[in-house]
Amino acid sequence: MDGQPTPTDKLAPLCPSSERLFLAILQYARMWEHFGVTALRTASMTETTADMTTSNPVWPSQPCLSSAGATEPATVPLPKGTPACPSVASDATSVPRTDSLSLRPSERLQALRVIADEVRQCTQCAELASTRTQTVFGVGNPQARVCFFGEAPGADEDQQGEPFVGRAGQLLDRIIEACGMKRQDVYILNVLKCRPPGNRNPSRDESAACRHFFERQLTTIQPEYIVCLGAIAATTLLQSNLTIGQLRGSFHDWQGIKVLATYHPAYLLRNPPAKKDVWQDMKILLADMGLPIPEQKG
Ligand code: URA
Repeated sequence: MDGQPTPTDKLAPLCPSSERLFLAILQYARMWEHFGVTALRTASMTETTADMTTSNPVWPSQPCLSSAGATEPATVPLPKGTPACPSVASDATSVPRTDSLSLRPSERLQALRVIADEVRQCTQCAELASTRTQTVFGVGNPQARVCFFGEAPGADEDQQGEPFVGRAGQLLDRIIEACGMKRQDVYILNVLKCRPPGNRNPSRDESAACRHFFERQLTTIQPEYIVCLGAIAATTLLQSNLTIGQLRGSFHDWQGIKVLATYHPAYLLRNPPAKKDVWQDMKILLADMGLPIPEQKG
């Protein structure tokens, strides 16, 4: 599932207050199903764990990537006075954790489709809207325990409409597989839903404009963990001025979700020695998830 509605499957976008009302009604109607959803997640990870016993993690070195896309170990300062929830954020950004946990899988999917439809129609960033081939919403399991959170689509993602499908994406896939998981077990999304021309860094305004989209994606999916890939993803989500080097190596909190920051795969393509640091971070993740740590090869 990619969270993108099919032409016959579109919903009329809900205004933020309607969306909250929708979630509130579902919370009560589905309260009894909370444990059922939890069981479903557990079943999903049991399957993953079973797969891990036969997995053979291979994480080979790659030649350098020429395109931009990784900014480590840069600091990404926030503008002074940046509010915790920028003014573009809708009420839906503060949907509490329990709301989406009580959503049925199909309702979670539907909620993501509503957001994806809004994303597709968004023209708030004039330059991005006029240069994009298409928006890139997110892909993966809406019940995922882990979300991988990147920066912005590149040229390949802009063409294919899916995050992390280029060379950095292939390395991300190998990282996920080295952890004993599969790409389809996790959910993958970016700060920005449109490709910045020339793969430049997202501007502060662009990140702020997209904030309500990625926050609503995350509060709908309600993962247990968010792995921020690179400085821009980490500092944007956490609204921090720290460097990626300072942020990585331990958990942070975002709305009750454990956040781990690590280096961006594109940075690893340029700096293969940093792969060992990412593997250290993944071991922290796996240990906290209660999953076995596969032996690292290559
Ligand atoms: N880099 C990102 O941050 N996201 C993508 O989807 C691809 C490359």
